[in-house]
Amino acid sequence: KGKKPLAGRKVLVTAGGTIERLDPVRYITNDSSGKMGFALAEAARDLGADVTLVCARTDGPPPSGVTVVRTPSAGEMLAAVMERLPEMDAVVKAAAVADYRPAERHENKMKKGAETMTLTLVRNPDILQEIGNWRYSDEGNPRRSPFVVGFAAETTDVERHALDKLARKRADLIVANDVSQEGVGFGADSNAVNVYGAEGLVLALDRQSKRRIAERLWQLIADRAGWKPSGGEGV
Ligand code: C5P
Repeated sequence: KGKKPLAGRKVLVTAGGTIERLDPVRYITNDSSGKMGFALAEAARDLGADVTLVCARTDGPPPSGVTVVRTPSAGEMLAAVMERLPEMDAVVKAAAVADYRPAERHENKMKKGAETMTLTLVRNPDILQEIGNWRYSDEGNPRRSPFVVGFAAETTDVERHALDKLARKRADLIVANDVSQEGVGFGADSNAVNVYGAEGLVLALDRQSKRRIAERLWQLIADRAGWKPSGGEGV
């Protein structure tokens, strides 16, 4: 009685945009601010969870009262997430992970010379896919599996792509950012999302603060994961 809804739960949230280095002073990144992931971490903390925030490059400092693990690149983020997966009750992947990284990382600053230069990129691991593969890797083995939520920024055929991603990456929910709406998306303080489960659209949240969106998402996660408000291992 009186316990917070996520008391006794361990959750991992990823945030920010990964940086993929070319040399000691140059890298490739994206426009992610980390604000949605920070809001998710903050909301989970305030709802009573033990929060681990795995973050890449972000605008501003991470919230207090959470365990912060800094992972600049996708490769480092993958290792940090996989290492902690077995002990988590939920994993929410709000980070914008670069799909490609430079094939080669130069130890010293690259020198200018030729008029043109070609950069070869190679695919990064898909962390959400790796989590999905891990969860189903030994069927029949009663391995404890966290509840897994992915994000998706889509501009066309949002529902089809979200459901495809959900199935392919074997996640429990996919949160699709509605990037077509004004004041929504990268760097903004508000967001608008459609949340998809295996059966289709399960929650539509119109434009509101990322903090409020985060609270609604945790309510949904607790509900779908069957977490009792009393906390602990259930039954
Ligand atoms: O395929 P797409 O990048 O749209 O999928 C988005 C979801 O997958 C996000 O939750 C994102 O964090 C995750 N992702 C990942 N590793 C990647 C690419 C995306 O974990 N290399």
